Amino acid sequence: MAFFTHQICRSLSSSAVRNVAIKHVTIIGSGQMGAGIAQVAASTGHSVTLVDTNDDVLKKAIKGIEGNLKRVVKKKFSDKPEAGEEFIQKALQNVSTSTDAASVVQGSDLVVEAIVENMKIKQDLFGGLDKLAPAHTIFASNTSSLSITDIASSTNRLDRFAGLHFFNPVPVMKLVEVIGTSATSQETLDSLLNFSKILGKTPVSCKDTPGFIVNRLLLPYLIEAVRMYERGHGSKEDIDIAMKLGCGYPMGPLELSDYVGLDTMKFIMDHWSAANPEDPSFAQSELLNKLVAEGKLGKKTGEGFYNGYQPKIILVQICA
Ligand code: CAA
Repeated sequence: MAFFTHQICRSLSSSAVRNVAIKHVTIIGSGQMGAGIAQVAASTGHSVTLVDTNDDVLKKAIKGIEGNLKRVVKKKFSDKPEAGEEFIQKALQNVSTSTDAASVVQGSDLVVEAIVENMKIKQDLFGGLDKLAPAHTIFASNTSSLSITDIASSTNRLDRFAGLHFFNPVPVMKLVEVIGTSATSQETLDSLLNFSKILGKTPVSCKDTPGFIVNRLLLPYLIEAVRMYERGHGSKEDIDIAMKLGCGYPMGPLELSDYVGLDTMKFIMDHWSAANPEDPSFAQSELLNKLVAEGKLGKKTGEGFYNGYQPKIILVQICA
């Protein structure tokens, strides 16, 4: 793999490491989530290296970060344009890019992975980096549905491995789920809770159970809304309006499904229904399957339950 062109293996101590002050962060995967995490980490004074498979993808990610920083500045520095410009430049200076994780991980206090949701690819990535990263470096996955314990099993740093789950859009959503396995040390959890706070987020602690807190509650709700629409219980517009105005949610469930990505939703539901075939809350939706098969994945492809979105160029995430 491209990340391991410099195979410099070190012998690592697995002794407990104290609460690490996180300054240097490597983020692997420059898609929407990885770029969003890079943006907030760089904006809060961390030195960030964003890693992906090729320079074109990384250039697009940096352009996206710059655009989103401008949105932040418009709000925070509306009456101080010079301070706003300085904020943008400082944040951008804090981000460097690389196509070789192996060469940058040696200077990292924290490695956050935000790549494709594939267990083997994540295990291979972390297994390789484990031989190269310093003993104190914490490894974290931003997976939304896979077991942190299973990903961590490819490494020899089980005490310094955790989940760090952000929400889309990362610069706006205030929550971070900090997920500990039975082997994650309290020092590691404390470092990640502290890091999340420094990013301006509110962290919650979660056990390594399917979907953690948010997705375990959110996905069955979203899929039930899809089934309700499928059964003809309401138009998609009425279902969305009902939940927005009846519950005060910023988006209705079908609109939010398009925003999250119908392929992402299907991936998570398929994974859970395979593991729990008897559980009706994870049952398949024919409509969701059909839309995904047709490549109608929601906002990112321009069409999902709704159409007319400005289709985004899908950034090819590392290893995808
Ligand atoms: N970067 C920086 N700022 C951004 C931004 C971005 N990427 N996206 C939006 N914003 C800012 C805008 O500048 C705007 O700021 P002001 O209010 O100061 O003008 C503000 O956020 C609101 O944005 P918009 O006016 O464009 O649109 P909106 O009011 O409709 O809000 C939204 C958009 C924030 C996405 C809102 O609809 C929302 O909160 N939706 C729900 C999102 C949600 O539930 N996310 C979780 C998904 S689940 C997940 O991520 C987990 C998983 O694993 C699947």
